[in-house]
Amino acid sequence: MAAESESSTKPLPLPLQDRLAIVTGASRGIGRAIALHLASLGANLIINYASNSAQAESVAAQINTTSTLRALTFQADISHPDQVKSLFDAAESAFNSPVHILVNSAAILDPNHPTLADTTLEDFDRTFNVNARGAFLCCREAANRIKRGGGGRIICLTASLVASVRPGFGAYTASKAAVEAMVKILAKELKGTGITANAVAPGAVATDMFYAGMTEQVLKKAVEECPMGRLGETDDVAPVVGFLASDAGEWVNGQIIRVNGGYV
Ligand SMILES: NC(=O)c1ccc[n+]([C@@H]2O[C@H](COP(=O)([O-])OP(=O)(O)OC[C@H]3O[C@@H](n4cnc5c(N)ncnc54)[C@H](OP(=O)(O)O)[C@@H]3O)[C@@H](O)[C@H]2O)c1
Repeated sequence: MAAESESSTKPLPLPLQDRLAIVTGASRGIGRAIALHLASLGANLIINYASNSAQAESVAAQINTTSTLRALTFQADISHPDQVKSLFDAAESAFNSPVHILVNSAAILDPNHPTLADTTLEDFDRTFNVNARGAFLCCREAANRIKRGGGGRIICLTASLVASVRPGFGAYTASKAAVEAMVKILAKELKGTGITANAVAPGAVATDMFYAGMTEQVLKKAVEECPMGRLGETDDVAPVVGFLASDAGEWVNGQIIRVNGGYV
């Protein structure tokens, strides 16, 4: 009788207990919400950022509420192979564990939203460097280093723009289309490892990236076009990533999940 009541009060393990997740671009926006959500599911976290160390530290502080280290910040530009390698090295050595989950959320968008005719070569290269090359480098490192045999997850943030194909987002959308192609192929190449690879493709979400260069008119249109009648929030996206990262998400593999309230 005593043993029974003891077992009934024992808390169930969290879905991502003892798993190690790297979230790139986790100092702000969607990446930040994903990092906090994965931590709430029990994961240990590497909070990657490019330059905003104070914001990254504040995300880590929100997770590190006890004396046990659960989140560490790490600056790395994902477009540099050496820095991506260091990111994984730091994760493994800080937590003495293989990495289980990579979420690549870091990306950039030209706030001027130029047409292709007005896109400079420098802007095109900058966009592809971070969004496509950065995603490639993170996926490549993850494919070689993520734990085999169950629970391994690669999740790239892409964009619903790949489906809605809007003027003014040519280089950005093309860079995200490249990532969607890579993820689908990666899922097949990782056959036998138990690692899944998927893309989560948000629609308009209220973050710095969305508001940069935004006009009142475009903002109004984004809300009007959405069947849910509002702008997406970062917390609309994070639970989808949480599901894909969990064991329950294992059967979703090689997919592009558009998370946009139904606008496309
Ligand atoms: N917001 C939207 O409406 C929307 C819609 C569709 C898809 N998405 C996608 O969702 C993801 C997150 O977007 P967001 O809106 O959260 O963006 P955000 O608010 O602009 O945040 C971007 C994050 O990426 C980091 N970052 C930028 N360049 C980096 C680099 N070279 N190396 C490492 N980190 C870098 C930033 O770090 P620092 O803070 O250090 O600068 C920051 O943490 C992106 O992949 C984006 O394309 C967003």
